[in-house]
Amino acid sequence: MSRPVGVPEPVVVRAPAKVNLHLAVGDLRDDGYHELMTVFLAVSLFDEVTATPANGLGLTMRGDGALALPRDYRNLAWQAAVAVAEHAGVDPDVHLDVRKEIPVAGGLAGGSADAAATLVACDALWGTGLGRDELIELAADLGSDVAFALTGGIALGTGRGERLTPVLASGRWHWVLAIAQGGLSTPEVYAELDRLRESAGVPRVGTADALINALRTRDLNAIGDHLANDLEPAALSLRADLRRTLRAGDELGAVSGVISGSGPTVAFLTRSADSAVKLAAEIAGAGVCRTVRTVFGPVPGARVIA
Ligand code: C5P
Repeated sequence: MSRPVGVPEPVVVRAPAKVNLHLAVGDLRDDGYHELMTVFLAVSLFDEVTATPANGLGLTMRGDGALALPRDYRNLAWQAAVAVAEHAGVDPDVHLDVRKEIPVAGGLAGGSADAAATLVACDALWGTGLGRDELIELAADLGSDVAFALTGGIALGTGRGERLTPVLASGRWHWVLAIAQGGLSTPEVYAELDRLRESAGVPRVGTADALINALRTRDLNAIGDHLANDLEPAALSLRADLRRTLRAGDELGAVSGVISGSGPTVAFLTRSADSAVKLAAEIAGAGVCRTVRTVFGPVPGARVIA
């Protein structure tokens, strides 16, 4: 069926999940956020947003965990559409259909990917022609990880994670994501870290210099040695079962493993695409997580695909 003249075509945008290869959490700021220094890697697991012309704003979601998510102003994708409309001075007339592959509350920034994809999709659908810098500014206001879902690749994030500097590294790395049953709340994990730091004085992971150097020199073993996450003790304190997942990857031959962001997803570095497939099957067989995915990275950020 052909579309009436003057009615724009739907726009389809996909945006990637992220893994934090290094996450150093500083002190709690007055605004309730923690100062961060993190190395983000965008990986080949994508959510897809289809933006269709509509009267008013509407949202549908399908896929992994989608039923649990709000379909109104509480959803980051909804907020992203409103942000573009307000910034450009247009009405937020769009229906958003979000297809989720990225697990919800998994520490992979799925909600941020949806928001980044929506920013790009609405800008294209409404012809508002926002520049990259404007989109990044809107993204940073929406959430700490949204700007990275827009840019993708490998980047060093500072501030609360929203200030990005690209990391100049070539290469492609293959990972297994062990996706846990249930999710973890990001604010609860940060709060648990504050509690642990006050009561037990947990050690800090320090700077990301060694990891960035390993990425630049494409030294796989060194990358494995320097994966680190200050939120790991907090995630493990709330989800003791993740110790078994980490141990299983280690025993089954992963180069190294790390909890991504606030968890509970564990990312295992492998030597090749083939080793990732083999490790994924073995981890699935060990029964230490809900499901597994093989991914590679870096991949680009939010892009129009149709
Ligand atoms: O920015 P975003 O909405 O993703 O953050 C969710 C929550 O995670 C924040 O409300 C805060 O509790 C915690 N957070 C933090 N420091 C950061 C990022 C997130 O404390 N740098």
